[in-house]
Amino acid sequence: MKKPQLTRRRLETLPREALHIARNATKADVYRFEWPPDSGRFAVLKEMRARPLWYRVLAGRWFLRREHRALRALNDIEGVPRAIARPDADSLVMEWRAGTPLMEWEDGTVSPQALEKVAQIIAQSHARGVVHGDLHRSNVLLTPEGEVTLIDWATAGVFGPRRGAKNWTFEEWRALDVRAVAKLKARHAPTGLSATEKVALSSGSKLYRLVRGAGFKIRRLFGHRKATSPDETAAQYRKLMEEPSLD
Ligand SMILES: Nc1ncnc2c1ncn2[C@@H]1O[C@H](COP(=O)(O)OP(=O)(O)O)[C@@H](O)[C@H]1O
Ligand SMILES: [Mg+2]
Repeated sequence: MKKPQLTRRRLETLPREALHIARNATKADVYRFEWPPDSGRFAVLKEMRARPLWYRVLAGRWFLRREHRALRALNDIEGVPRAIARPDADSLVMEWRAGTPLMEWEDGTVSPQALEKVAQIIAQSHARGVVHGDLHRSNVLLTPEGEVTLIDWATAGVFGPRRGAKNWTFEEWRALDVRAVAKLKARHAPTGLSATEKVALSSGSKLYRLVRGAGFKIRRLFGHRKATSPDETAAQYRKLMEEPSLD
């Protein structure tokens, strides 16, 4: 049987439910709909159509392109939704995956195994030369059965296996991801932190220190006295390092 084509016109005829309507002008609206029709399976549509044209042209379409590229590069990795279609420049369709963002799981209810799955999916994508770049608690879906899916690859970088001079940048982004995984573990399952992850928490990458350091200076400049400096954060994490690791 021929695979049904998902064109913009076709998309408009399908009933959909809103999963997430963007609260600010920079994000995509996210919908869920049945696809293929009458299959009992679902797809997710990320769409920038309601954003102002200038934003779509300068950034929105670029994010969707980035995400599509990353999803295609990771097509056979179980913990990543598969790309389905680009009906037009302002939209992207991918598999819908069950699960609730880690953000909504109470502290103490997420198993170390689930966090280990996050670490494995990230390691698999790094092995492909793909970095996520925005791995925080709302971009990790977890089901009660322990299935994990990493979503929101809009800020991902596809470097591929032959990185040449770009390898330095890749390594910096990779370190950011490793640190993000370590932060998730530190919050939900600190006993699962490996020695490498503890080092990542206490030092971070050069890029991370640069961005955090600049953010800290700007907050101080605007009178935000309570802002924690990168050194203070590192000291907090260093305490964790004194605890025994699994590896
Ligand atoms: N493939 C997917 N499967 C299930 N839910 C999804 C999927 N992609 C996005 N969502 C839902 O939509 C929300 C927003 O999507 P996301 O890709 O994180 O975009 P952004 O954070 O940029 O708005 C997610 O928190 C999640 O609830
Ligand atoms: Mg998100």
